[in-house]
Amino acid sequence: MTEQVTRATFDEVMAPNYAPAAMIPVRGEGSRIWDQEGKEYIDFAGGIAVTALGHSHPTLVKTMRDQADKLWHLSNVLTNEPALRLAKKLTEKTFADRVFLANSGGEANEAAFKLARRYAFDHFGPEKNEIISFYQSFHGRTLFTVSVGGQPKYTEGFAPVPGGIKHCEYNNIESLKEIISDKTCAVVMEPIQGEGGIIPADPEFAKQVRALCDEHKALLVFDEVQSGVGRTGTLYAYEQTGVTPDILTTAKSLGNGFPVAAMLATEEVAKSLAVGTHGSTYGGNPMAAAIAEAVIDIVDTPEVLEGVKKRHQLFVDELNAINEKYHAFKEIRGMGMLMGAEVADEFAGHAKDFLTHAADEGLFVLVAGPNVVRFAPSLIIPEADIKQGFERFERAVAKTVAALRK
Ligand SMILES: Cc1ncc(COP(=O)(O)O)c(C=O)c1O
Repeated sequence: MTEQVTRATFDEVMAPNYAPAAMIPVRGEGSRIWDQEGKEYIDFAGGIAVTALGHSHPTLVKTMRDQADKLWHLSNVLTNEPALRLAKKLTEKTFADRVFLANSGGEANEAAFKLARRYAFDHFGPEKNEIISFYQSFHGRTLFTVSVGGQPKYTEGFAPVPGGIKHCEYNNIESLKEIISDKTCAVVMEPIQGEGGIIPADPEFAKQVRALCDEHKALLVFDEVQSGVGRTGTLYAYEQTGVTPDILTTAKSLGNGFPVAAMLATEEVAKSLAVGTHGSTYGGNPMAAAIAEAVIDIVDTPEVLEGVKKRHQLFVDELNAINEKYHAFKEIRGMGMLMGAEVADEFAGHAKDFLTHAADEGLFVLVAGPNVVRFAPSLIIPEADIKQGFERFERAVAKTVAALRK
């Protein structure tokens, strides 16, 4: 018999590292979700930029069922057809020649950072080991990835942390110039900072980062865990920066909620990930790979990618219309289906209040730090759901503003 569980059960048995909302969703379809009480929500959060094709997408459900009937797991002692097909697809559609499959964004980044160190070690010796990343960046929660990430709150209390990591200012090339050197093995950047507040890289900045990497024989790593798989309107955001990285990591939307990630690299760089240097029991699992392959097939079509750009405009128009009435936000920014509304100065630190009121109204949104309300919905969210979602968001904004202005 299935045991009855409630939100209170979370506080009894789960590690206390999350503070989930009071309701428990039990079912989703497209961009709608229902909780235990039957209350319906419109999903502008997409599981934090994950459910790119919405909930229970029929093709993905069928793909998963078909694969479940065939083969679940082998380990990397053997390879499998879905993993090979997925890797082939990713190399055909990107700059990359080689793929390492993993299970989460953090794990893909861990592989990328290890590969960058190993490549430098192989070609230039052990002294070239410094990794540079940017303040406010986010690359995962393993000890190495939180250390590379540019948010000190995530390493607090976890020392000693890995060394050989430096940080500088995003979108400020002078700041990078001050610390990059021939000891740098890699510069790591998100083409659009997600957790850091939805901040797109200035294309000129990205080009100069590439040039500095070349000058110092450092690899350029793009963390596209959040921005990848069509979210910005191209399969990967790097295509819009005019800059090609040496290594790219992708996760989140890649499995539409099924855990899967990949690290992509050029032939030359990937050589350093020789037999025995790295691995993962589940990485390249046939279930995950089959689903990711189906996701890529659906997303990488003009229909979906053009649709992302069209929907972006709809979101921006709706947000601007609401903002004209309530003056709640000082900037609306982002790319494709990854957008942020930075709260006006009078509401600084209160982005979460908008999220809470939105949930009360039957709408899931996200925050990105204390000042930015974030939207990362399905890439194929129906127009009617966008319209209705913004009716709910307007009520939430009205309530939040009224409460905070009291
Ligand atoms: C840019 C970026 N990199 C890495 C990660 C970590 O991914 P995961 O939580 O799957 O380990 C995230 C998650 O938010 C992310 O946004």
